[in-house]
Amino acid sequence: MEQHPTSHPIIIAIDGYSSCGKSTLAKQIAKRFNLIFVDTGAMYRAATLYFQQQHIDISDELQVIKALTAIHITFDIVDGYNTTFLNGKNVESEIRSLAVSSFVSEVSALSHVRRKMVALQRDMAGKIGLVMDGRDIGTVVFPNADLKFFVLADPIIRAQRRYNEMLFKNQKADLQDIISNLAHRDKIDTERADSPLKQADDAILIDNTDLSIDAQFSLVESIILTKLKEIG
Ligand code: DC
Repeated sequence: MEQHPTSHPIIIAIDGYSSCGKSTLAKQIAKRFNLIFVDTGAMYRAATLYFQQQHIDISDELQVIKALTAIHITFDIVDGYNTTFLNGKNVESEIRSLAVSSFVSEVSALSHVRRKMVALQRDMAGKIGLVMDGRDIGTVVFPNADLKFFVLADPIIRAQRRYNEMLFKNQKADLQDIISNLAHRDKIDTERADSPLKQADDAILIDNTDLSIDAQFSLVESIILTKLKEIG
């Protein structure tokens, strides 16, 4: 579909807790409004995978800084799916493993890591609009985004959804491990000193505990259409 004519390329920020369906929603928006989709969680996950592979001691600032210079993250479409590449290698499946999920919040709490990722994310804003999902998009990366959504859902429902997703992808999954992992990440993501997860003052809250994917999208789509008319 043609992108809506606005005076500038639109930026839509989607923040929220882990496994709330932010990426699903962002992909739907990208398709409907012809925007670039950026999953910033994938970037932190790719950095985490690199740190794990290279046995980086994250308490050693110099090791972290050096490692960051060797990390190149890119995205491409493979078989119709957004795919993450770390130094040229397809890591899409690996970055979703529980091993990475268990360590990603610690790595993403590091200011050096955040600085690099935020710079890369800001560079992605260009001639075509974008929809970006993460934890600090509306608060830090694009505080002037045209539209901001903050997504949340009941923690048990979130864990169940992640569990089903992993089974669907033939990945090993244990519901209790996922529940603990989500609680652990929520705690670190909301309590870290550098750009913690929080709702921006001007973000629209979406609680999708009882919303189907389609119902959530219809709601968000109508909000975006109204906004496009306003700024068009
Ligand atoms: O969206 P996700 O679950 O794939 O994100 C993985 C982790 O990355 C999440 O626990 C916190 C971190 N993250 C972040 O700190 N800032 C972002 N903009 C995106 C993700």
